[in-house]
Parts: sequence; structure tokens; C-alpha cells
Amino acid sequence: MSEKRKNDHIDLTFSSRPKEQLLVDNVYYEPILSGHPKHRSRFSFLGHDFAIPLWVSSMTGGAKRAANINKNLAKACEEFKLGMGLGSCRSLLESDQRWEDFDVRKFMPTRPLYTNFGIAQIEQLVQENKLAKIKEITERLNADGLIIHINPLQEWAQAEGDRYYEAPLVTIKKVLDRVSLPVIIKEVGQGFGPQSLAQLSYLPLAAIELAGYGGTNFTLLEQARLSGANSGKYSPKQSFGHIGHRVEEMINWLNQLDSSKMQCQNFIISGGIVDPLKGMFYKKQLKHNCVFGMASELLKYAMDDYEKLSAYLKEVDDCVQMAEVFLVKGDQNG
Ligand SMILES: Cc1cc2nc3c(=O)[nH]c(=O)nc-3n(C[C@H](O)[C@H](O)[C@H](O)COP(=O)(O)O)c2cc1C
Repeated sequence: MSEKRKNDHIDLTFSSRPKEQLLVDNVYYEPILSGHPKHRSRFSFLGHDFAIPLWVSSMTGGAKRAANINKNLAKACEEFKLGMGLGSCRSLLESDQRWEDFDVRKFMPTRPLYTNFGIAQIEQLVQENKLAKIKEITERLNADGLIIHINPLQEWAQAEGDRYYEAPLVTIKKVLDRVSLPVIIKEVGQGFGPQSLAQLSYLPLAAIELAGYGGTNFTLLEQARLSGANSGKYSPKQSFGHIGHRVEEMINWLNQLDSSKMQCQNFIISGGIVDPLKGMFYKKQLKHNCVFGMASELLKYAMDDYEKLSAYLKEVDDCVQMAEVFLVKGDQNG
């Protein structure tokens, strides 16, 4: 066995050089300060103990395949002690036809679960004085709170998209005044600029999910759905899919905020994270309490049998425990 290993080492030497180095500013790899993880690291977020500091970012619901995907994701939350945002619950505002897709509390009885609504629907409910509906749906699903997604570019790029005319900041404040539930605010894949992030952090939100540029991008996706998208004709709207902010930029801005002014210091770092190590780098880089979030990467495994998702998350868990021990925040280096 040992001889085979020695031969493998010689044979594989030249094909085993890294192409890019995975490191981010202000996080260091410190190999002499720890041994391999002996005890599990635990993480705390939204009042819960997380085994992996991972959030299942809002995805699907309102389509036939969604029930199985959501069931798998919810089971994973319970097994691996994660938290989850449901996909847009908009269809539940109209009828209970797709209730089963979202009714996942039974699969994750002890974990944080949040409903999800778009800012356009919320603005309409505010105008009609019907915000109570949001609370009613959230409570009937036994969820802990609600997520509001802010997606002006997606709505605009979508043929059947909605418009809203009030600044989301104004609408969010109204929700916080009138709905007694924890609220998370997120983008859908193009992130937030520095002023938006600062203004959000001054509000008493449960958390802010960055949903940054670099992963799933709904402005591009909605353009691809349009008839004639493959005609080769360029639509000027497509350029709007290329604006937004990456996670790295947003972490820098958040680290510069005056924490004495921040009423919300819980963050879900997400948008383009496909590698748990990257998620852990970002987690170490941000000064505030946080977990990292994944959407599309988890979807790949959640579409099949639960066992595939569970096997993947076991690997993620292993990576997280290693990263927690060997990656050190810059400011701890003196
Ligand atoms: C299939 C799919 C459906 C999504 N649906 C929603 C949604 O209903 N509400 C929402 O807030 N975000 C939705 N998102 C956006 C994700 O929550 C996330 O912000 C975005 O995909 C970026 O993360 P990623 O790069 O890890 O995929 C969806 C993403 C995917 C892949």
C-alpha cells in the first residue's frame, strides 16, 4: 500500500499543481497553531446553534418539482443544523393550491425557516392595507419570520414583471412598524451598494442576505426566457445583468460601518458561493456575525434523492471544520 502511494506521488507530481490560489484579504492559513479538528466547532445564528454555518438561500416553490426539492432541503436543514429561506411564497397570496410545496416545517421541526415575498407584492399589500396576510401565511407555515427580496432589475427585465414606485427602504420600514415578525432583506443575485447596505444595517432587521453578483443572475435569466432570446439580436436590457456588487466588495463596506449605529449585525453572505471553503473565507473576513448561503449549488443535489444531498453536505461539513481550525482572521494575527 505504502509503495503504491509512493509511486502515485511520483506519477501525479506534475499534474497536481494548483491553478489559482484560494485566499482572500485579511484571512491567513496558519498551519502550526492547531492540529486536525478534534472537537466540532459550533456556530450561532438567529438564536440557533448551527453545525455548519450554512444558509439554504431562497429558491423554489409554486411549481410541481418544488415540493420534492424543498422537502430534501428541509430534511438537510434538520440533519445538518442549517437554516432555510423558502422560495417566493407569492402564489400563496392568491390560493392554497401550491401549499404543499412550502409546507416543510414537519421536515425541519427545530431549525430556522423563513417565508419569502417580493418587495413589489409587499408594496401592494401595504397600499391595500393587507399586510396581515403575510403574517397569517408565515404563521400557518410555522415559519420563524419572513424574507423580503428586492429585485428591481429582475422585475424590469421580465416580460410579465411587476413595478413598484416607493423606495424599498420606505416599504421595509412600514413592514417593520406593522408586522411583528423577524424580517430578513435580500437581493436576488446582484447585491447591494454601500448606501443600501448601510441603511439596511441601521434597521432592526433579523439579518441581511447579500445575494451578490457572480452567481445565479435573474436579470440575465429573465432575458434568456424572452421569446426570440436566441435570435442573435442584442437586447440593450441585457447589460443590466452585468451590474451589481460582489461579495468581496460588500464585505469591505460592511467592515467599515460604525457598529454603534448598526441595529442589524447578522449577515448571510451569498451570491456565487459554490465552494464551502470560499464561504468560510468570507465568514472569517466579515467582522459581524454571519453564515454563508448557497442556492444553485445546493439545488444541483436537492433535485435528486436525499442521499445525494446528504453525502454532499457531509463533505461540506468536513471542509468547514478544517477551515475553522486552519484559517485565521487577520486581526487575530496581531
Ligand atoms: C432556482 C432558483 C430560484 C430562486 N428563487 C428565488 C426566490 O423565489 N426568492 C428569492 O429571494 N431568491 C430566489 N433565488 C435567488 C437565490 O436566493 C440567491 O440569492 C441567488 O441564486 C444567488 O445565489 P447562488 O449564486 O448561490 O445561486 C432563486 C435562485 C434559484 C437558483
